[in-house]
Amino acid sequence: MTSASAPGKIILFGEHAVVYGWPALAVPVTQVHADVEIANRAFAGIWIHAPQVNLHAELNSLPSDHPIAAVIHNLFFLSRVSPFPNLEINISSIIPVASGLGSGAAVTVALTRALSAHINYSMTDEEVSAFAYEIEKLHHGTPSGIDNTVITYARPVYFIKGQPIETFEVGQPFTIIIGDTGISAPTKESVSDVRKLWETDKTKWENVFGKIGDISFRARHAIHESQVKMLGALMDENHVFLQEMTVSSVELDNLVSAARRAGALGAKMSGGGRGGNMIALAEKDTAPVIAEALMSAGAKRTIITQVS
Ligand code: MEV
Repeated sequence: MTSASAPGKIILFGEHAVVYGWPALAVPVTQVHADVEIANRAFAGIWIHAPQVNLHAELNSLPSDHPIAAVIHNLFFLSRVSPFPNLEINISSIIPVASGLGSGAAVTVALTRALSAHINYSMTDEEVSAFAYEIEKLHHGTPSGIDNTVITYARPVYFIKGQPIETFEVGQPFTIIIGDTGISAPTKESVSDVRKLWETDKTKWENVFGKIGDISFRARHAIHESQVKMLGALMDENHVFLQEMTVSSVELDNLVSAARRAGALGAKMSGGGRGGNMIALAEKDTAPVIAEALMSAGAKRTIITQVS
């Protein structure tokens, strides 16, 4: 039996603008993860079980652009494995789907690692991330590559599309509360709607994306210099631009306001938006109070995580 695991992720700053080449910051979230186990089986075929998405199927019954089928087909093609071995693949994930926590990329990375190990095909992190990026395109069309990067390397990233991975330095560790609206919203749709906005007025939106890029740049500095108040203010600023882009929602805005009222230093939606998760920056002692306030305001669950 071969197994592999991959964490979830959260975007701190710069979602959407990152698709247009501006910097964004993201961190792994190890409290949630996708896990894959692979075993040889005596009978013909490759059986895939992913109970969270209600998938119990033989590989050949899945369409070729199904992200899980695509991982298996592409990896066997790359490693020149033929004929396909008989396998039982179990995928379990506690990362909520379509919530901005990188569930698709985490399953892809864990499956790629487990499968490549199972067939003794060695892959570097760079290769795993590049491979997962191709699969991300099936999930949401024109991804920036930030999800596969932060999840493959499992460390904080200052990400610019198409550029080599850069991490960022954390002065004092800081605390983030993640609040889940419980509403699943496919990233593909919000990314495509932002593209439509951009096409209607490229000058206006390039300007907005540039300002968001500048926020990410300043946030990196604030994190390095342990300027938490500044970091909170930058989150608030970033959220306004995301609202302008129409990717926030009533539920996300409510949670953002509730977090601020409960003493958060700043808050914003995170990821594709329209549902999914928001984040709030807290002083360590106030994190449980903010998490409670988020639950009272309708969050389906919260995660308190330290960025260090
Ligand atoms: C999704 O986690 C982040 C987006 O910026 C899309 C992407 O970067 O591919 C919304």
